[in-house]
Amino acid sequence: MQEVIRIEGGRKLNGSVTISSSKNATVALIPAAILSNGPVTLTGVPDIADVESLAEILRILKVDVLEDGQHLIIDPTMMENTDLEQDVVTRLRASYYFMGALLGKYGKVRIKMPGGCYLGPRPIDLHIKGFEALGAKVEYERGGYTITCDHLVGNRIFLDIASVGATINIMMAAVYADGRTTIENAAKEPEIIDVATLLNKMGANVRGAGTNVITIDGVQSLYGCYHEIIPDRIEAGTFLVMAAACAEEMVINNVIPKHIEALTSKLMEMGVKMDIGIDTITVYGGAELHAVDVTTKPYPGFATDLQQPLTALLTQAQGISQVVDTIYAERFKHCIELQRMGAQIEIGTGTSKITGPTKLYGDKVTATDLRCGASLVIAGLIAEGITEIRGVHHIDRGYDDIDGKLKKLGARIHRAMID
Ligand code: EPU
Repeated sequence: MQEVIRIEGGRKLNGSVTISSSKNATVALIPAAILSNGPVTLTGVPDIADVESLAEILRILKVDVLEDGQHLIIDPTMMENTDLEQDVVTRLRASYYFMGALLGKYGKVRIKMPGGCYLGPRPIDLHIKGFEALGAKVEYERGGYTITCDHLVGNRIFLDIASVGATINIMMAAVYADGRTTIENAAKEPEIIDVATLLNKMGANVRGAGTNVITIDGVQSLYGCYHEIIPDRIEAGTFLVMAAACAEEMVINNVIPKHIEALTSKLMEMGVKMDIGIDTITVYGGAELHAVDVTTKPYPGFATDLQQPLTALLTQAQGISQVVDTIYAERFKHCIELQRMGAQIEIGTGTSKITGPTKLYGDKVTATDLRCGASLVIAGLIAEGITEIRGVHHIDRGYDDIDGKLKKLGARIHRAMID
């Protein structure tokens, strides 16, 4: 038996939607919380499978976890540094944040190779380079890493690529290190600022998050605090694209417009009409859409996570659009599924060329990764007939109640179990 999402396409969406807190911030904030010596309360925690997996890992570590609605209270007072070799570690990519957090707190971590969406090769060499620069010894054997250090000492680390994961992992490993750590060519994503904010509320001394140079001055002790998570810019972007595809009028609440400027400016270039407020964006449907070219870049450039959802919309735009993904050259599996629904897409190495507009028809398609799933939901909303999406667990890893939110906007969407 497996779960599927069925969408009856062709209906106009109307109304408002409130965006949940950021998945990619939350999955780093949860491991970061264990660096504290007292309870940390995270507010606005999204109801997604990745959070459940991380809570399971916390329980393995004997961390007290209390889920109270949108609050997650993480109390690491009685924590034990257990080896993380359980299957849950391989369910998501973000389990690699326990490397930095446990190394930072205990000087030792043993953890299985993390999993997550397959988007082509996703090495973690820069994380390792960072840990080694702080004095750690890293060994890899039988599918797991053992990272140890008697005493971490701050150092200057230049990242060859501005990696989100490596920046956050090194920040966490360095909070208790002796002296100053400087991360050069650090990633600048908003999620990094959110993690630095939490660490600083806990008593750490992290400066420069959001720029490409971050300094961390080691401290002796960290304590509990309260932290409200930033809105999910990728979920907001997904709903913006949905609105552009099939809304009469959609109000998207709890969004930081600056975080998705690369997308809003691209949508305006396509002809989409919208009003951008302080924490709200209203999208008006019915505009004629024009083809555009998109190249994904690290923040503040166009997010790789949004190129897959946008591709579904580009099938409806007049002309030829080209998408280049400079972050993940193999992040194009959604195109094969969209082709099944009638899209005209040529897939190249790290690129796709979309000719539009083409009519889409409902079909049986498979979400091969999280944002591929989002792309197929959008295509399903546009398409004539019924779209049946398999691989729903990928979507549930990162979107909080996507079907509930869409139902409220007037979509015909439901889940079913099939053999
Ligand atoms: N890279 C290396 N070596 C490393 C680390 C990264 O070569 O040690 C390369 C990657 O292969 C990639 C590029 O550097 O080509 C950027 O990777 P990055 O480390 O920034 O990605 P990540 O931290 O693994 C996060 C998000 C992804 C998002 C990317 C890029 C989380 C948990 N994941 O991944 O989100 O696509 O940044 O913005 O924060 C998603 O939400 O669907 C998702 C996949």
